Amino acid sequence: MAGMTEVIEIDPEHPDPAAIARAAARLRAGGLVAFPTETVYGLGVNALDASAVRRLFEAKGRPANDPLIVHISSVQALDQLVSEVPSIVERLAARFWPGPLTLVLPGSHAVPPEVTASLNTIAVRIPAHPVAHALITAVDLPVAAPSANLFSRPSPTRAAHVIEDLRGRIDMVLDAGETAVGVESTVLDVTTDPPTILRPGAVTPEMLREVLGEVGLVARDGGPMRSPGLLDRHYSPRAPLTLYDGPKAVEALLRDAIAAGASGRRVGLLLASGDLDAAAFSRATRDAGTDDRLIIRELGPELPDVARSLYAALRDLDTARVDLIVARAFSQAEGLGIAIADRLRRAAAGRVVHT
Ligand code: TXA
Ligand code: MG
Repeated sequence: MAGMTEVIEIDPEHPDPAAIARAAARLRAGGLVAFPTETVYGLGVNALDASAVRRLFEAKGRPANDPLIVHISSVQALDQLVSEVPSIVERLAARFWPGPLTLVLPGSHAVPPEVTASLNTIAVRIPAHPVAHALITAVDLPVAAPSANLFSRPSPTRAAHVIEDLRGRIDMVLDAGETAVGVESTVLDVTTDPPTILRPGAVTPEMLREVLGEVGLVARDGGPMRSPGLLDRHYSPRAPLTLYDGPKAVEALLRDAIAAGASGRRVGLLLASGDLDAAAFSRATRDAGTDDRLIIRELGPELPDVARSLYAALRDLDTARVDLIVARAFSQAEGLGIAIADRLRRAAAGRVVHT
């Protein structure tokens, strides 16, 4: 679809009903509308309109075998989408909806196969962002929405990221500023016993265990692919990213960055705030003559801050046209650290240096 993409600024807390009504009308007419959720921006389409769904896959350049998440605004709306509501859903919904949790459930035939990539399951969530909630309520239809980025680029956490990737390819963007969580929702398959986390997110394994007792975390490497979106090279910046892990990670990363800079390449550095001894670093780069070739993004100080700014930092480094990115691993044993580690590992697509 080529044409104009209308950008509407909208208050994140108190969305203007007239703007919401326009966006809802676009969706009902089969249009593609990007909107903020608490995780990342989504690219919405009427989930019951097969030809609109096909246009959405085309706009993103997304392979047809990667199923979409259907967004609804109330638990009642589940009934038309699923063939059965497993008993655990009530407790999960009570605790985590609206919020950054997607449930994979037994599908019904009401939803066109384009949405689910012909699987017999369907992924559903109720987002918490007031704009998303208002839009889905106004449109009064289930809204299929992948992240509003071109396939394999980092997910958008600001409207500017959506516009960068999809201007002219979609009908409308609702711009409500930066999203709060910054990484995509936790995807939990409740058709297995015990339920399995297919994609870690802000609803952590620890939080899910409080409700479920036991929960599995799907191994990303080896074994059959459980969720097509779990491809490597997802969420990637254009420049190759190398991840540094272990106790000497920062030291090794800085050494390699300075060496690459000295050989004439532009290097993006993803660090935690507090990693750099600024004086020592500027001395080292001045000695190596690389000052203007090293571009630094500091993430943090806390893990929620890292999650919120990670994708924007990756896009910034691409915009700065770096030739390579070196990134430090963050604490990854638990909580949100698991989701951050997952996204960084995918962005690194196997390039990991253990120190
Ligand atoms: O936070 C989010 O989840 C964002 C916002 C917009 O809601 N959406 C999002 O959608 O990240 P997307 O399409 O980028 O990722 C959807 C993920 C993919 O990994 C996909 O494979 C998985 O959900 N998925 C969808 N349906 C599935 C199913 N029936 N079984 C297993 N995995 C499924
Ligand atoms: Mg995505």
